[in-house]
Amino acid sequence: MCGIVGYIGQQQAAPILLDGLKKLEYRGYDSAGIAILNKDTITVSKTKGRLKNLYNMIDGGNKLPGTIGIGHTRWATHGEPSDINSHPHTSTSGKIAVVHNGIIENYMDLKEYLTSKGYCFVSETDTEVIAHLADYYYNGNLLETIARIINKVEGSYALGLISSDQPDRIIAVRKDSPLVVGLGEGENFIASDIPAILKYTHNTYLIEDKEIAVLTQDGVTLYNTDIEEIHREIFTVDWDISAAEKGGYEHFMFKEIMEEPQSVLNTVGPILRQGLLTIDKIPDCMHIIACGSAYHVGIVGKYVIESLTRIPVEVDIASEYRYRNPIITENTLVVVISQSGETADTIAALREAKKTGAKIFGIVNVVGSSIARESDEVLYTLAGPEIAVATTKAYSTQLAAVYLLALSLRKALGQLTPNEEKRYGRELLRLPNLISAMIEQKDKIQYYASRYYNARSVFFIGRGLDYALSLEGSLKLKEISYIHSEAYGAGELKHGTISLIENGTLVIAVATQEALFEKMMNNIKEVKARGAVVLAVATEGNTKIEECADGVLYIPKTDPFFTPSPAITLLQLFAYYVASLRGCDIDKPRNLAKSVTVE
Ligand code: G6P
Repeated sequence: MCGIVGYIGQQQAAPILLDGLKKLEYRGYDSAGIAILNKDTITVSKTKGRLKNLYNMIDGGNKLPGTIGIGHTRWATHGEPSDINSHPHTSTSGKIAVVHNGIIENYMDLKEYLTSKGYCFVSETDTEVIAHLADYYYNGNLLETIARIINKVEGSYALGLISSDQPDRIIAVRKDSPLVVGLGEGENFIASDIPAILKYTHNTYLIEDKEIAVLTQDGVTLYNTDIEEIHREIFTVDWDISAAEKGGYEHFMFKEIMEEPQSVLNTVGPILRQGLLTIDKIPDCMHIIACGSAYHVGIVGKYVIESLTRIPVEVDIASEYRYRNPIITENTLVVVISQSGETADTIAALREAKKTGAKIFGIVNVVGSSIARESDEVLYTLAGPEIAVATTKAYSTQLAAVYLLALSLRKALGQLTPNEEKRYGRELLRLPNLISAMIEQKDKIQYYASRYYNARSVFFIGRGLDYALSLEGSLKLKEISYIHSEAYGAGELKHGTISLIENGTLVIAVATQEALFEKMMNNIKEVKARGAVVLAVATEGNTKIEECADGVLYIPKTDPFFTPSPAITLLQLFAYYVASLRGCDIDKPRNLAKSVTVE
């Protein structure tokens, strides 16, 4: 979703802003723009389309002198992607420019009010009200102006604002949308995410909701809405710029799959060494809430947690949970899974649950993100920065995290025997090797991708954990290759969907669950009998499957709970190679955003 950068310092701002926006491209966008403040004049350059268009328009920024500026990549919500609707937006006088991420929910009322005061709107965006409100409230002090704006607007926002009347500062504020402040020497930054500023500084302020940051060349001061100064510890980012760069790989997605073994090891290693998590209170039931791939991890979590603990687990899509009035008691443990920690629906669902007094357990990748801060306890997945829109290594570490949670709950119940603890611990520590074994099979996976990349429609089928995994395998394939794909519980196919199987339809049958293997063989035969081409995923040794499938990819043997780990790497690589053969924009699939910060 929209990306914001801001720079104030001694260097020419425009190239730095373009560079920062490039690092935020992964968030998904359809237009881009910057505003530069130079000698009391603000110049805005913005255009629909890729950042390259903006880059060419302003000669990589060289055309625009000035050492203060704000930049934006827009993912359209209010109004189509167009030059006019692109950010920055300015007040009619051109003296104030603003960039915004989020949605101003009461913008219609504000627009009406401002129109009655004589303001003219040129765009269809909600953001433009901020520029005019800033003009309306401006009393010579931008800080006070922004504080008044915050009291008026409803919704979510991260804002960056400059004014030619106070040409020595950038003002920034956030509510329910991510924004960090970067602290340099003689220069300071704002950005929607850390990779945008990492080249310049590792020191940041993670600002809280409704905190206002005033950035000058020499320093940053934070205020609350009563304009009282607040103190914040510096948060030092401990990863390197190389973690957010491609490092010789053609795509971030591929690089991130290669990083899975290490990420999983980083996530499970320290916790297994400490002897699992301490669970103070055994819940009566659990709710897992998340969106997208994180939701699919939740489904794996349900199977594993219920099997190991017999605690009932419900899994919900956050956008449904928040409005369905779920039954939550004080003894419900609500597990919130999110890579970014900033997904708007997931945050809202978390808050709904929290109102009831339930305890919130966050599984989050981004340190200091909203979900991490609002959870009672956090288990961090240590995947490092994930840039490709389609999640891979974060998903793998989230799987590892739910395994750790399930085992910790079983231990707290007094049901995890020392032998089990040792055995499961050993298997979890083997996961990085199992994932590596899948990566080593990449040529074979690529071969199958080359056989099937022209498929028009694909069905993934599986039972039990293999069904949960199929959901993610199918999502991965369709989101990056644009091939229509659906996942079904293998037993459910004949309740309708099997009518779509015709000669040559590709069915990917995931059959890693030993106990359900024979059932899966029957389901494969059913679709084969109707003309399907079947690519199966099975556990080494189960060669019987070759009798009915057209092709088989094997995962190494492990405990049945853990088969999704190596198997997902295989399916991610399959999706990657298919998308690559189809010439798709793998890291930035059309219409998608990495971090969905609007409802
Ligand atoms: C977006 C991304 C998905 C992701 C989902 C949830 O839709 O494209 O890859 O799974 O958001 O994101 P989160 O950051 O909460 O895990």
